[in-house]
Amino acid sequence: MTEKNPVAIRSLFNHIANRYDLANSLLSFHLHALWNQKVSQRIFQKSAPQMIVDLCSGTGDIAIRTLKFAERKKIALTQIHLVDFSEEMLKVAKHKALKLPLEMQEKMIFKQADVTNLSYESSFFDGAVCAYGVRNVNNIPLFLSEVHRTLKPKGTFVILELTRPKHVLMKKLHDLYIRTFIPLIGKWLTSNKDAYGYLQESIRSFTSPNQLARMAEEAGFTHVEIEPLSGGIATLLLLHK
Ligand SMILES: C[S@@+](CC[C@H](N)C(=O)[O-])C[C@H]1O[C@@H](n2cnc3c(N)ncnc32)[C@H](O)[C@@H]1O
Repeated sequence: MTEKNPVAIRSLFNHIANRYDLANSLLSFHLHALWNQKVSQRIFQKSAPQMIVDLCSGTGDIAIRTLKFAERKKIALTQIHLVDFSEEMLKVAKHKALKLPLEMQEKMIFKQADVTNLSYESSFFDGAVCAYGVRNVNNIPLFLSEVHRTLKPKGTFVILELTRPKHVLMKKLHDLYIRTFIPLIGKWLTSNKDAYGYLQESIRSFTSPNQLARMAEEAGFTHVEIEPLSGGIATLLLLHK
């Protein structure tokens, strides 16, 4: 499993769903909480979207944070759709949602689907988010154009991805982290050789923010903003339709 084969990727996430949240926290030294919170802040920065879609939603951390953020800021968020093709990741998300107040639960719509083939009508959402998902999607241009199609004009799409730092010292530390820590967590997550290989590769294959920004522009997005986080080991991309 060296290529981004959707069937194998779905099965990998089904396999690791119950350990995913802990793995994410360990791999990021819990920095993911800070980065994920930024996604929720940025989606409401310039407007007050009422209909949001969380693409490659996984176990729902971003969607739940976004709902809570809207509640705190008294933003009238109507619905947040969680779209993912892994039924097991969605199952974990649904389980976590049960701990929320009923009025929040009612705003969450779960949808098992491939993000490169969204069955929503055009201009359906005011905002879209996708955290750590893009690098798993096999056809990124198709994915970006689907998001562009389903967003209303002036809608915002916030992408969060793991990236490589630019600073020399940070880069050295990052390389060490890739060589030592990632294999350790990968082994703990799955002993399946193929799945393990892909996981390693996907974590290692850090997306270049500039390349992603170019692809987003080709899909029709404008005013692309790039915001490095924690010295560039993660990056937020703000895309506007
Ligand atoms: C690394 S996880 C990220 C989960 C979540 N966004 C988070 O913040 O933790 C990637 C998720 O993308 C999903 N995924 C990958 N490719 C997909 C596709 N083509 N369509 C739908 N979901 C996809 C996987 O099932 C997995 O749940």
